[in-house]
Amino acid sequence: MNPELSAIQINERGGVAYRRPRATDGLRMWQIARDSQVLDVNSSYAYVLWAVDFADTSIIAEVDGRPVGFITGYRRPDASDVLMVWQVAVDADQRGKQIAGTMLRELFSRSGVSAIHTTISPDNDASQRLFSGVARSLGLQFTREPFLEAELFGDSHEPEDLYRLSPA
Ligand SMILES: CC(C)(COP(=O)(O)OP(=O)(O)OC[C@H]1O[C@@H](n2cnc3c(N)ncnc32)[C@H](O)[C@@H]1OP(=O)(O)O)[C@@H](O)C(=O)NCCC(=O)NCCS
Repeated sequence: MNPELSAIQINERGGVAYRRPRATDGLRMWQIARDSQVLDVNSSYAYVLWAVDFADTSIIAEVDGRPVGFITGYRRPDASDVLMVWQVAVDADQRGKQIAGTMLRELFSRSGVSAIHTTISPDNDASQRLFSGVARSLGLQFTREPFLEAELFGDSHEPEDLYRLSPA
């Protein structure tokens, strides 16, 4: 196989391609986050930098050559076999097609981690359903604990609970 293609690792399922991000995806990642009207929107620069330096622990979902979803993640500094998922977003017109769930499972298998952590605010039902479903399909335990209190954020941000998807 062309070594460049194998490094990019494109997996196509149901007309959706799943691959590592690159710098040119950063702007679309920013647009998808902005358009979600739910996520905290970081600068476009932050997404470009993330797509470069954290490409191994992040993923893009693409339809007809256009990114329609992404996950940003990193390995926790004190537990490198744990993937911390920061943001997940899918364009509104592409939701409900298992794109977010497939991105998470792809990323889990590609990064070779043994557990996934994420933070979710108590009002985000979609996110809780997404992660509990992925935990079930991967045979991982799904637990929640208080993590970051609302007062830490200095704005109207909800608290963020820590969810762990870990081996039994
Ligand atoms: C959350 C989000 C990423 C889900 O994307 P998606 O591609 O539609 O999700 P999937 O189709 O893979 O669905 C995964 C699971 O979540 C559930 N789900 C998805 N959207 C839902 C919603 N609005 N309400 C309740 N459950 C929902 C699905 O029913 C599915 O559950 P199942 O596996 O038990 O059937 C998408 O709605 C989104 O971008 N939301 C705005 C940003 C956000 O809230 N991100 C999460 C916080 S970081």
